[in-house]
Amino acid sequence: MDEIRQVTHIDNVRLSDDGSSVVIIDQTKLPGLMEYITLETPEQVYDAIYQLKIRGAPAIGICAGYSIYVLAKKIRAADYDGFYAEFHRLKEYLNASRPTAVNLSWALNRMEGVVTANREKPVPEILALLEKECKAIHQEDIQMCRAISEYGLSLLKDGDGVLTHCNAGPLATSQYGTGQGPFLLGREKGMNFHVFADETRPLLQGARLTSFELQKAGVDVTLICDNMASIVMKNGWVQACMVGCDRVAANGDAANKIGTSGVAILAKYYGIPFYVLGPTSTIDMNCATGADIKIELRDPEEIKTKWYEKPMAPDEVKCYNPSFDVTDHELITAIITEKGICRAPYTESLKALFADK
Ligand code: MRU
Repeated sequence: MDEIRQVTHIDNVRLSDDGSSVVIIDQTKLPGLMEYITLETPEQVYDAIYQLKIRGAPAIGICAGYSIYVLAKKIRAADYDGFYAEFHRLKEYLNASRPTAVNLSWALNRMEGVVTANREKPVPEILALLEKECKAIHQEDIQMCRAISEYGLSLLKDGDGVLTHCNAGPLATSQYGTGQGPFLLGREKGMNFHVFADETRPLLQGARLTSFELQKAGVDVTLICDNMASIVMKNGWVQACMVGCDRVAANGDAANKIGTSGVAILAKYYGIPFYVLGPTSTIDMNCATGADIKIELRDPEEIKTKWYEKPMAPDEVKCYNPSFDVTDHELITAIITEKGICRAPYTESLKALFADK
């Protein structure tokens, strides 16, 4: 039990004790080194998100909430208008650090909403409300991850083989995670799954983070290269696929780490259910379809040199390095949120999630 708790309760992002900075694990150093770093300036926060020191859609949102609060405390302005102008400038700056995961803008908009809804209050009171809000974003994510993990677990049987892509575990979220939450919760309940973790080229979140987390928690995990997914499916070793998501459109098209859509296509071919797990904060009803989701393009050096002692491609070769792809809703068996399991037609089941708002 302790080994599972150590993983699910990892301190991946938090406010410093005096509230003057945000403390994160630098995930680019894992699995070799568990190093905590402190973010105090807008540039440090931007760089941490852009460089994937903090990553995973929900964790990016939590970090953004804490960060804008920390930065808001440092604003020196004579009145509300001056305070809000600078707050908005900082918010727009942080929002530009990564475009695909909707949780970033979701959390920043939520924080900005606190400022604009309380314009008649003195700035110290607004700051107190911002502190409450960023802590609430984090607490809610803990509850959501737990509920998602419970719903996800209900779709698995003890002994199942499950394939996952990228990292949607505790490091990417809070506590249990989303796409990998059912494996950790199941383990805690005495169940045993055989998890196949795609290494997830080019930044190797599966190899560096998912296999690290699951192995540490005592889950039976086998690391495979991305191009081995087909053979393990064909061998009959995979009964379900579970992945996280960065932005889900209103029709159920889901953006997640590059390579996810290929896994979904293979799963369809082999008749294996393909599940997308994520909180409702990752559903963007303003995107009608996946075509509206902006896909982040990243530095070609991530493919050619980043994790290697020497270059693995000719210096000047052209590279295309999209960070995410969109899985067509027709390939998705179900989308699992903290409010329940949504099935096709997603235009209706996803809409129903927001009906009470
Ligand atoms: O580029 P990353 O590492 O931030 O991408 C992460 C993913 O694609 C995750 O699957 C997604 O954010 C969900 S995390 C619960």
